[in-house]
Amino acid sequence: MNIKKYLLIAVLAVLPFLAGAQNGPVSAKIVCGPYLQNVTTDSFTVMWITDVDAVAWVEIAPNNEENFYYNDRPKYYDMRGHGLKPIGKIHKVTVDGLKPGTSYRYRVMMTAVQDYHNNYNIAYGKGSGAPAYKVNLPKATTLNEDYSEVKFAVVNDVHAKDSLLRKLFEDKKKNKEFDFVVFNGDMTSDLAYSDKIVRHYLKPASDLFANETPLYMARGNHEYRGKDALKLSEYFDFPEHGPYYTFKYGKFLFLVMDSGEDKVDNDIENQGRLCSEPYLDQEAKWLKGVVESDDWKNAERRIVFSHIPPQVKNAWHGNLNMSQKFLPILNNAGVDLMLS
Ligand SMILES: [Fe+2]
Repeated sequence: MNIKKYLLIAVLAVLPFLAGAQNGPVSAKIVCGPYLQNVTTDSFTVMWITDVDAVAWVEIAPNNEENFYYNDRPKYYDMRGHGLKPIGKIHKVTVDGLKPGTSYRYRVMMTAVQDYHNNYNIAYGKGSGAPAYKVNLPKATTLNEDYSEVKFAVVNDVHAKDSLLRKLFEDKKKNKEFDFVVFNGDMTSDLAYSDKIVRHYLKPASDLFANETPLYMARGNHEYRGKDALKLSEYFDFPEHGPYYTFKYGKFLFLVMDSGEDKVDNDIENQGRLCSEPYLDQEAKWLKGVVESDDWKNAERRIVFSHIPPQVKNAWHGNLNMSQKFLPILNNAGVDLMLS
């Protein structure tokens, strides 16, 4: 080996270190969000997505003239780790112990995690978050104890046309009139990769309304499709155990159904991946409990969101499932409105 080869090897060996020194510590950037989930009378959940792994927290301040930097603000962490701060790109932080009907300024904060190969040596990057001295922080408002009226928007079957979604919600001032927005299924045509959830649901929503207006998701048949379909629930904070749940605005009770696929589980197009019949049976059992609950009985208005309607001419199996498994329970339960 001659001296030139030695020099080349030496330069190649040093290059990565030089590159690292030039770039410095990594800082996590927000690629989507923040967006509000699951707002109650005393809590709200903030979610956002970063470009690199990070640990995250949310800081809040009263919605008044006081400078955000006036004092140390309460910090809320992502509690999915049962006491360990999760390291990842999808962040989910619930802020609780709040007063009803009250607005709070909030900012999402994170510290990038560059390396965690060694159990006792996490290499953190830089901390980052909105510079509260030069941006207007978003506000989250807890629910009132009661409402004389509730205003919401429902949209479904957008099927990946996020330009249409952006058009529908282009008036940011008008969006603020809504108490919440529901995506009632089939916002894309498949979840082949999870970035579709960002691109077709959460990015348009958070850019246009969801940083201050809660977003609820009802699963459509197309959200059953694609390799990353199982990841849907990672991107939402469903109020109960998954994609079917209830939530209340005072005397208004909202029921969000998971209406399943449109074809039978064994249809060739479902590729042997579905076991939705027993899952929908579990949902029906849960629904019986819901309509017998005090919350349901005491509600003055009961409104149902379901992607697939229960009965139509030329019914597909999805319609049949709705008619057979859920309609008998809902028919005598005093539903005021069903949106499908
Ligand atoms: Fe559909």
